[in-house]
Amino acid sequence: MYEWIKAFHIIAVIAWMAGMLYLPRLFVYHCAAETGSVQSETFKVMEQRLLRAIINPAMVATWFFGLWLAWLGPDSRYGWFASPWLWAKLVLVLALSAVHGMLARWRMDFAADRNVHSQRFYRIINEIPAILLIGIVILVVVKPF
Ligand code: HEM
Repeated sequence: MYEWIKAFHIIAVIAWMAGMLYLPRLFVYHCAAETGSVQSETFKVMEQRLLRAIINPAMVATWFFGLWLAWLGPDSRYGWFASPWLWAKLVLVLALSAVHGMLARWRMDFAADRNVHSQRFYRIINEIPAILLIGIVILVVVKPF
């Protein structure tokens, strides 16, 4: 049972991360498209579908299966919650979820043709999920504390 939940957790994580790395990249290209152009309207559809069909459900599934695993854990009373690495991981996952929320807000700005950020801004934002991903995977696999 535990291994099955972990498999679904990892599948959800991959889908969430794929979207979190791709959406800011779409924003970078969207910045270069002229407002009202066919290209700009196409980016709007791509961004909305990516967020609604992949990123949002994948985040919910990641949290659902992750918390389930944490609750099952090795300690019959506290699950993995007795392990400090899990708390450190949760801090990084909360940060990732906050980035998710900001990406959703910027997507709405693009949809309403009122984006105020530059290409450079989205290029920098694009690095944050990648950095958080490295920290999260090291914490859960190495379990350093
Ligand atoms: C949403 C909150 C999350 C919670 C509560 C959570 C919790 C957990 C728990 C308890 C495990 C099982 C650890 C084990 O059996 O050794 C696990 C496995 C894993 N998690 Fe998460 N997780 C969350 C989000 C994430 C995210 C965002 C990522 C990656 C970006 C991630 C990547 C992984 C990986 C790769 C494993 C498999 C580790 C292994 O089998 O060695 N998790 N998670």
